[in-house]
Amino acid sequence: MKKMNVIQSFLVVLLILFTFPGISQNSVIIHADKPGSKIDKAIYGQFAEHLGHCIYGGIYVGEKSDIPNTKGFRLDVVGALKELKVPLVRWPGGCFADTYHWKDGIGPKADRPSIINVHWGGVTEDNSFGTHEFLDFCELIGADAYVCLNVGSGTVQEAAQWMEYVTSSNDSPMTKLRKQNGREKPWNVKYWAAGNETWGCGGNMRPEYYADLYNQYSSFMRAPGIYKIASGANVEDYKWTDVLMKQSAKMMNGISLHYYTIPGTWENKHSATQFDENEWFTTLQKTLKMEELVSRHSEIMDKYDPSKKVGLLVDEWGNWFDVEPGTNPGFLFQQNTLRDALVAGINLNIFNNHADRVRMSNIAQMINVLQSVILTKDKEMVLTPTYYVFKMYNVHQDATMLPLEIKCSKYTSGSASINAINASASMKEGVVSITLCNLDPVNAQNVSFEIQGQKSAQVTGKIVTADKMNAYNDFGKKEEVSIAEFMGANLNKGKIEATLPAKSVVLIQIR
Ligand code: AHR
Repeated sequence: MKKMNVIQSFLVVLLILFTFPGISQNSVIIHADKPGSKIDKAIYGQFAEHLGHCIYGGIYVGEKSDIPNTKGFRLDVVGALKELKVPLVRWPGGCFADTYHWKDGIGPKADRPSIINVHWGGVTEDNSFGTHEFLDFCELIGADAYVCLNVGSGTVQEAAQWMEYVTSSNDSPMTKLRKQNGREKPWNVKYWAAGNETWGCGGNMRPEYYADLYNQYSSFMRAPGIYKIASGANVEDYKWTDVLMKQSAKMMNGISLHYYTIPGTWENKHSATQFDENEWFTTLQKTLKMEELVSRHSEIMDKYDPSKKVGLLVDEWGNWFDVEPGTNPGFLFQQNTLRDALVAGINLNIFNNHADRVRMSNIAQMINVLQSVILTKDKEMVLTPTYYVFKMYNVHQDATMLPLEIKCSKYTSGSASINAINASASMKEGVVSITLCNLDPVNAQNVSFEIQGQKSAQVTGKIVTADKMNAYNDFGKKEEVSIAEFMGANLNKGKIEATLPAKSVVLIQIR
């Protein structure tokens, strides 16, 4: 962006004040002089479960499909995910993981048994997408793999053999079997979890019982350089984290946390696209709870692991709404609006800001399920507002987190109020990247920035926004939400100011 002279700057300010009469003045100090931890790229991870049309139809259509594919993987989806720089994919569940027996999904496809997906719609699936397909898919899109082992209905032996099958280069029965099935070299899979939601669909266990079981599994989870993950707490179950850390911290590299934003109740979650400003507010307010959850679970972890060796991994998060009318209730298919873009932006900012403890997150889910980055219908594909936020935010992957001090106005609804601005910042290759969400759907926010410890010569920006709170991208229609150049930031005599439009997610980069 070119530098402006004094008169031009004055005119811009007048224009802003005229255009946005309710504009507020806010300030952000960015501490480039006090760099924090590395933002692990795994924070930008995704979750792909055997659920609805996430795997079958979304990722995999089979080689005989008339949807363009390579080895059965949709070409349009593979292209979009490569473009997104997805660092990591979690598979096969979710609740599905604790019903999954991996040997059903290897070998000639015609010989693989069909199974009933008991958690998700009771549908029969033919196991044509198994271990080889998942790991080949990860290689295709350039992502690391994260495999969740079956603890709920599996055995330690089954889990140990799966790991041997995938990772071993030694002469062994499982290595031999893998080679017979066409894969000579082992795969390099770093992330392995022992079970999913073991407090719920993964076995309804008490934390004390699961901690013992985790230690047993962990003892037999063997492969060079692996990262072992314990099934962690549901929302604010702080006791779960406490017990697991007390009994098992030495046996794990990470522990998970699950939290979904549900604007209504579990029974009536409310529509993904039909909502008013009250519900916009409630959704964002509930999303901000992630800050409290991450802080409080981290505090407990600090007690047992002050040097922060164990990562807090938010391996399921996102909006959970009612399914789209007329779709299978067990398939969790929902549309994705500008509101989802804000929810993604806020959560990712929170994770960036806690990069000292949060080392991974996985949005639920990648395709066609809950807050997806991609939707598909037969041959068509839609990139959601959430996709575009991830794309804009990928500048933070493996960058150094920079602490922020934010002074901002409140966004108020009735007697409740939340901060109008949510942000995080990082530095990579001399470039400072700040991602900001303006939660207020009516008022723009004027922000002045001060970067301590770094000179500013140029400022550029990108934005995700739309005219309506519930704008979304739909099949066969022109995109309503995507990334645009952001012209609302300027640098004048070393001072950076920006006007964030109402209901927007913005990236500002300073060189
Ligand atoms: O993401 C959908 C489901 O939500 C997962 O299978 C489960 O882990 C969670 O309850």
